[in-house]
Amino acid sequence: MQNDSFVFEALFEAQFQTQWQAPSNIALVKYWGKHGSQLPKNPSISFTLSKCVTTTSVHFSPQKKGEARFDFLFNQKKQADFHPKIEQFLDRITPYFPALKQHHLSISSQNSFPHSSGIASSASAMAALAMCIVDFEKQHHPDWSAPSMLQKASFLARLGSGSAARSIAGPLMVWGQSEDFLGSNDQYAIVPQVNWHPVFKEYQDTILVVDKGVKKVSSTLGHGLMDGHPFASQRFAQAHDHIQQLKTALTTGDLDQFIDLSEAEALTLHAMMMTSNPRFVLMQPNTLALIHKIWDFRAQTRRPLCFTLDAGANIHLLYPQQERIPVLDFIKNELLSYCQQEQYIEDQVGNGTQKIPLP
Ligand code: PMV
Repeated sequence: MQNDSFVFEALFEAQFQTQWQAPSNIALVKYWGKHGSQLPKNPSISFTLSKCVTTTSVHFSPQKKGEARFDFLFNQKKQADFHPKIEQFLDRITPYFPALKQHHLSISSQNSFPHSSGIASSASAMAALAMCIVDFEKQHHPDWSAPSMLQKASFLARLGSGSAARSIAGPLMVWGQSEDFLGSNDQYAIVPQVNWHPVFKEYQDTILVVDKGVKKVSSTLGHGLMDGHPFASQRFAQAHDHIQQLKTALTTGDLDQFIDLSEAEALTLHAMMMTSNPRFVLMQPNTLALIHKIWDFRAQTRRPLCFTLDAGANIHLLYPQQERIPVLDFIKNELLSYCQQEQYIEDQVGNGTQKIPLP
């Protein structure tokens, strides 16, 4: 797929208002390392979540002379620290939708999860904003099919934050060219036409909040450290192997293999950070304590509970829906004391973005 096929040249001036909700996602095979315009150095696959969502409304209006390009409210309040990221996003996507240049955007966003919970919100935020923008484009592109609209939304979201490409649809999305997934490519994420084993349709992701702080290392810096990383080529080759093996686990329902690969990916992501130059450690002592608790629980009970990690200290506990009660008992009795203010967020696999009627 060429980038040119995503350019919508028509220029127009119009008023339009829309609102979309987009979920966060959690990668099973991680994207870490990029090149060019937000292109991944390896393919990744993620569960789309359902409860950790961003809801964004945009009012597009013809831009008046001297007027700012956009204004932005987060939880009904002005939030200037988000402006550079939005500005950069609009700069990157305008070549694919030049009519944006003629419009002012009044953007208002809120998250279902606490902003300062250490849960990455850029994926859901960029995906929700991208959906509002393609919805506007769609009004002037009447013969556009729903799949093409979703492809463009994923393509635009990627330009805001790579992992946001995977927050458009569900229950799983693959981003980055992989021999194992027909149609997969670096430009946008796809929903693979694969019959996933039913156990994964309602898989649970309970996020244990170990550190609510803002990220200590920006993703852009982190991805950049894979350039010239001593283990980079092995890591990228490993991601291809892992995605192939994970496809087997996800279709056969082999939970042992799923657990093995999920934890290997989580720890490899952190191993890459610990061995880059400069090196950094994003796990906290409580992250490690929780990992050992999870391993002990699994060894003692034989229940299929495992973890994955994002670029931070929080733990994502992954388990089948039918294990919910014993796992929640375990969390409440043994894990909460390792969480900041005993905070955890229960989420599960979901189906992606949806349009929300305006009030
Ligand atoms: O989308 P970015 O640039 O914030 O990168 C996110 C990378 C990880 O969350 C660590 C892994 C992933 O694939 O989501």
